Amino acid sequence: MSGTENYQLPKQVQLLPQTTQLKGLMTIIRSKETPRSDFIFYADRIIRLLVEEGRFISDIHGLNHLPVVEKNVLTPTLAEYNGIAFEGRICGVSIMRAGEAMEQGLRECCRSVRIGKILIQRDEETHQPKLYYSKLPKDIASRYVFLLDPMLATGGSAMQATQVLLDNNVKEDHIIFLNLIGSPEGIDAFVQRFPKVKIVIGELDACLNEEKYIIPGCGDFGCRYFGTD
Ligand code: URA
Repeated sequence: MSGTENYQLPKQVQLLPQTTQLKGLMTIIRSKETPRSDFIFYADRIIRLLVEEGRFISDIHGLNHLPVVEKNVLTPTLAEYNGIAFEGRICGVSIMRAGEAMEQGLRECCRSVRIGKILIQRDEETHQPKLYYSKLPKDIASRYVFLLDPMLATGGSAMQATQVLLDNNVKEDHIIFLNLIGSPEGIDAFVQRFPKVKIVIGELDACLNEEKYIIPGCGDFGCRYFGTD
């Protein structure tokens, strides 16, 4: 099932390269037959790809990206290698609970990275996403922020979390939002409200169902990853 042929991905959204390797990993995590240990292992591999793509994101769309400076080094052959070094300071912020599954992948790529947390849940009365808790690095305003949430469904929690970051003086164009799977509805709502945020997505799915699950999706990511119902 695809159903996304007529959808124009906004320029702020960068899909991971749609390789056979990624398709194979996605096939495993999407199957309802996949046991939890495999779900964790293969989801972690996709998360690593997302973090690497987010770190080395290029300026192809004219948007901000992690700044690099030229850096030349001598190799053991005493020849010069013309390389680069990263300049920007980064941190992560996970949207609890499912976003916490992406923290380890970020740590593996960015040593001793600071990671904040935001808890947003649907208010029983208003049905609107409500902020319950946030704990962010003190100097977050001067950092690039990797916002972590595996599934971009309606975009409600992601938008509320992004607003929390802006309220803490993070620059909108310093936010890089990482998802494994996104829906057109969620992407459009998010991009309309925060056009300067860069989004990196593993795969784009067709739509949401009535219960706001992504279709075809992978079910409830947090429950499958953390082993709850
Ligand atoms: N969150 C999930 O875990 N899965 C979905 O399909 C949508 C939101």
